[in-house]
Order: sequence, then C-alpha cells, then structure tokens
Amino acid sequence: MSLSYEKLYRQSIDHPEEFWANAAAQLHWYKPWDKVLDSSNPPFYRWFAGGKTNTCYNALDRHVDEGRGNDTAVIYDSPVTGAKERFTYREFRDHVALFAGALQSRGLRKGDRVIIYMPMIPEALIAMLACARIGAVHSVVFGGFASHELAVRIDDCKPKIIISASCGIERDKVIDYKKLLDTGIELAHFKPEICIIRQRPQHKAELNEERDLTWKQALLGSEPAPCVPLESSDPLYILYTSGTTGRPKGVVRDNGGHMVALQWSMQHVYGVKPGETYWAASDVGWVVGHSYIVYGPLLNGNATIIFEGKPVGTPDPGVFWRIIEEYGVSVFFTAPTAFRAIKKEDPKGHYIRKYDLSAFRALFLAGERADPDTVKWAEQHLDVPVIDHWWQTETGWAIAANCQGIEPGPVKYGSASRAVPGYNVKVVNHDNEELDNGQMGDIVIRHPLPPGTMMTLWKADNHFIESYMSAYPGYYQTSDAGYIDEDGYIFIMSRTDDIINVAGHRLSTGAIEAELSAHPDVAESAVIGVADDLKGEVPVGFLVLKSGVDTPPGQIIRHVVEYVRENIGPVAAFKLAVIVNRLPKTRSGKILRRTMRQIANGDDYTVPATIDDPDILEEIKTALQSIGYAQ
Ligand code: COA
Ligand code: AMP
Repeated sequence: MSLSYEKLYRQSIDHPEEFWANAAAQLHWYKPWDKVLDSSNPPFYRWFAGGKTNTCYNALDRHVDEGRGNDTAVIYDSPVTGAKERFTYREFRDHVALFAGALQSRGLRKGDRVIIYMPMIPEALIAMLACARIGAVHSVVFGGFASHELAVRIDDCKPKIIISASCGIERDKVIDYKKLLDTGIELAHFKPEICIIRQRPQHKAELNEERDLTWKQALLGSEPAPCVPLESSDPLYILYTSGTTGRPKGVVRDNGGHMVALQWSMQHVYGVKPGETYWAASDVGWVVGHSYIVYGPLLNGNATIIFEGKPVGTPDPGVFWRIIEEYGVSVFFTAPTAFRAIKKEDPKGHYIRKYDLSAFRALFLAGERADPDTVKWAEQHLDVPVIDHWWQTETGWAIAANCQGIEPGPVKYGSASRAVPGYNVKVVNHDNEELDNGQMGDIVIRHPLPPGTMMTLWKADNHFIESYMSAYPGYYQTSDAGYIDEDGYIFIMSRTDDIINVAGHRLSTGAIEAELSAHPDVAESAVIGVADDLKGEVPVGFLVLKSGVDTPPGQIIRHVVEYVRENIGPVAAFKLAVIVNRLPKTRSGKILRRTMRQIANGDDYTVPATIDDPDILEEIKTALQSIGYAQ
C-alpha cells in the first residue's frame, strides 16, 4: 500500500527531526548524533550534529558486510570505445580501498582537497569514493570546461592532488584532457603537489616527471585503506556551479545529511528498491552525476551505470534503449534535451521498439523545464510515467517531484509536481509576502532546508549568506520564478538572475560576457539565452566595438567564439554573436536583456518605460534577424 503524500509531507515539515532521524537509522554510524538538527547558528544548519559516519562505508562496505558483496554495484558501458565492465560491490570496494591507500601513502589526509577532472570511466567513481573513504574533499570538474575554468577552481579550493585521464572521447573526437589540465595548472596561481593520470589506450599523455604519476604507478605497493570515521558535518565534496558574477560558487556538501537524504530519495522520490538497476545518464561533473550516478544508487544498494556516450550518434538514437534492455534498468533519469535529440533523429520511435523494455518502470527528467511536447512524446513511445522534477546544484536532490515511492499524483504538463517532503516551498513577492495560488513570484524555501542541501560556499560564508539567504529573511532564495497552483503543483517558469540553461548545463551569461569584453576591439558586450529546439537555450553575444576599430567584423566574431571555447569550454556552445552600435539600456544604464530575449524569441514585448533610446531595439531586431532569430 502506498504511503500518503500529505501525511508524510506534513510530518517532514512539522516534525523534521523525527522524520529525518527515522531515515538516518537505516545507515551506519560509528557514533550516533547528539542532535538531529543543530539550529544554533542560522542559516548554517547542521544535520546529525555530533554523529560520526563515513559515506564510502555506507555506499560500499556496508553492503559487503551485510552479505550483498556479490551484487552488481557498477556497470561501465562505453559505446565510444566498445568497452563494457561490471563490478560487484566487493570488487568496487576493493578498488576504492586500494586507491584510497595510494592517496594516503602520498600524504593525503582528512580535509585535503582533490580535484577530479575525468571522462566517464570507472576510475572517476573510484577516485571520488576513495576521497570519501579517507575524508579528503573531492571537487569534480566537468570535462567540457576548459583550462581557465579549471584554473579558477584550482585557485579556489587549492587541491593537493589532481586526478585526471590522458583523454576523453566525445563521439569520434579524442579530447586531450592532460593538455587542458597542464594549461589549467599553468594558469593557476596555486599548484598541486601531484597529478595522477589514468593513461587510456586512445591517447597516451606525456608526464611531468616531477609532478605526475600514472594511475598504475600510484597503485604500486599500495595497501587498502580503511574508512575514516568523520563528523557528520565534515565536507564530503565541493562542486562548483555558475553564479551571477561569472565567478563559480563552490557548493559544499556534508557527509551525514547528504547520505541520509540521498538514500531516502532513492526509495521515496524514485521508488527504487535495493538490487535494482538505476541509471542516470548524466556526467559525474554535474550534481546529477554526484547524486544519482555515484552516491544515491550505491547508498541504496543499486547497480549504477557509467555511460560514456551520447543519446544520439554513439552509434544511433537507440543506445539508451539498448542499455535499458541489456542491464534491466528499472528507473532512468536524464535531461529533456537528450530526449529532444532522440526525438529529432527518431521521431516515430522506431529504435524504441527494437528493444525489450519490460523492466523499465519510470523516466525522470530534470536539469531544465521538461517541455510538454517532449514529455508527451516520451509517454507515448515508452508507456511509463514520465516525471519532471526540479532541483539545483545547491539542493543536491529534488525540491519538487511526483514521488514514485510515496503516492504518485496525476501528471500536470509543465509542472515539476508537488514539493518533496522536507522542502517548505513558497512563492513570494519582493516584500517577502506569500502570494496566492496561481500568482507568479520568486520561489523560496523556508528554513531549515532538509538534509543533503548545501552547507555553505567553500571558504565564503558571507557570499553564501548574500547569495541565498539575505534577500528573503528566513528563506532560501532559489533564483527561480514561478507559481504554485491550487493542488500544490509547482510551475518553474524562469530564472531571476543571468543564469541560462544550455542542453541541461547551467551557464552564467556574465562569465561569457567577461570573455567577450576581454577582446581588445570590444568596448561593451551583452549575452542573452535564446530559445533553441534542441538545447533549450543557446547563448547569443552582442558586441559594441571601440571607436576606430578597423578589424573585419567576421574576424572579431570568430575570435570571441574561440575565446569562449578556449576559456570557458565547448560546453558553453557559444557560436553566435552580432555587432551592434549600442546596447539597449535603461536611463540608469542597466542593459535590457529581458527585452532583447523577447525580441530574439519573437515574443510580444512592451518597450520598457525606462528605456534610454527606444530606436536601438530596431537595430537589435535587425541584427538578430541576420542570424536567424527575431522572425
Ligand atoms: N568533455 C569534453 N568536451 C565535452 C564534454 C566533455 N565531457 N561534454 C561536451 N563536450 C563538448 C562537445 O563535444 C561539444 O563540442 P563541439 O562544440 O566541438 O561539438 C560541446 O561540448 C557541446 O556539447 P553538448 O552540449 O553535449 O552538445 P552536443 O551537440 O555534443 O550534444 C546533446 C547535444 C543534447 C546530445 C547533449 O547535450 C546531451 O546529451 N545532453 C544531456 C545533458 C545532461 O546530461 N545534463 C546533465 C543534467 S541532467
Ligand atoms: P543545476 O544547478 O545545474 O542543476 O541547474 C539548476 C537550475 O536548472 C534550476 O535553478 C532551474 O532553473 C533549472 N531546472 C532544473 N530542473 C528543472 C525543472 N525540472 N524544471 C524547470 N527548471 C529546472
């Protein structure tokens, strides 16, 4: 019999300590907590204060110790190399313990930071869990970010060790990760002591004898390391995400609260039982990868899949269905953009029908709003519930979802469903007054946030307070806007800051603008996200040139596109820029990005009353038309 959503939700909000203590009891603690929730220093709430635990123990050793050592823990499937591998919980625990021993023997200790910059190979998970085992704090950097972004992260978290690979493979391209890493280290002021490089057969990296070791060399003579008991509030990881300033924010996650929330979410949000195969087709560089490729499924005793491929082109739009059949995936999680890519190549779902999807129970989508067309297409062809759920790097797990392990409610297209237990979600106006159902406003979450959500920003407590906790006292500001309907369904409509969402990847337009403005011929720039059929949004840059510049416009545009690719990375998908004489601004000098976006997307717009010179809008429109927008 399913649990009542209303009852469970009320309990989580009215009696959070009792609620989460029950969830925590399923996990292993070296020492029980003194207090379920320490609220003595808001907004720095601490879950399971005084408790001692180890996330790696709970994710791997616990299952072995409880007799599930022969169950499958990790499946590696790489259509880009043809490799396939399966690891049981015992085998994976042994790999992790040995690598953790190698890290310890090189002087890595509790609290030291480690950057992991790797493609989707088993060693990425081994490295993350090895850090967790000995209390080192990992910070995974997505492979699609280039050297400059890597350097910013190196300087912020100051890693003693960096773990990387000789290359990644993007469809048929071999990406030289080691070269990107070397340049990143060169650009950074802080230098790591050691780099450990997994040499891959597709491309061998040159090593710096004084600093670099291969993965194999690192393991020579290593002894397995036991799990180190950690405080519940000791940091497990730092994950950088885009902020409004263009400078990434280092979201810090704890050990205790994180593991409790993730295991609870596997059972209640996703409705997955231990022993089943759960697959999140994302990347360990994103929060989805942290929570639902690595920690969530392993904490819950599931088999998880490391997929080194793309939804299309590796080799065809049937690869997702091949994997679901081959490994008996019961619950699958990906981004709507992946489905749009498949729908484009296989609109009639021919590939879907080639595979036996009988074990498949539910599809979850997140990372961007799931557009109703895509949801309906997936429902029609897959014949399973298609669940849009809303969350952020900061929260680490879903804020709103149609919880499959509780009491699934009806699907409302365009909505991420109701608040997940633990999250007290409200819609407010700028005066922090709660709005009625159906009224659009800023979405906020009342303190305390449930376990698993961010503790702070790395070495930046004040920035944490300013960014998230001060605009609406007593609430966490999500920076998403939307409304809640009369049934409690949450509709996320847009961001309230300059973050855009490109193929499910979160990017700051401010960071791209900084690159454009660095061009010697550019006086001023603006970047907006415009609608894109495949990627949801793509960035478009507007450049105002310095007077007297005689460089051909095409050359300037080519240069800024290269700048963004080289400094931020290919993942920004920045390919479109136009040159204009001026940017539309308010009389106080604020660039009217929203109006520019409306023009680009062909939406209705009203000329803002505060505009300095309305004629500029026509010029913007003409420029956008020249690249196929504003039609
Ligand atoms: N390492 C190096 N480069 C990478 C990379 C990585 N890990 N990931 C992406 N890139 C590169 C790509 O090769 C591409 O380069 P190109 O400009 O030379 O072609 C660029 O970054 C953009 O990549 P991407 O956004 O992945 O676009 P795509 O056209 O290759 O594929 C999709 C489009 C929709 C198939 C793809 O974006 C996708 O699978 N998205 C799912 C997103 C996701 O999982 N999000 C996580 C949140 S759930
Ligand atoms: P990230 O931190 O990369 O996970 O991006 C978080 C942001 O992506 C959110 O603040 C939203 O703007 C957007 N987002 C994620 N999931 C959804 C969803 N289901 N519906 C609408 N927007 C979403």
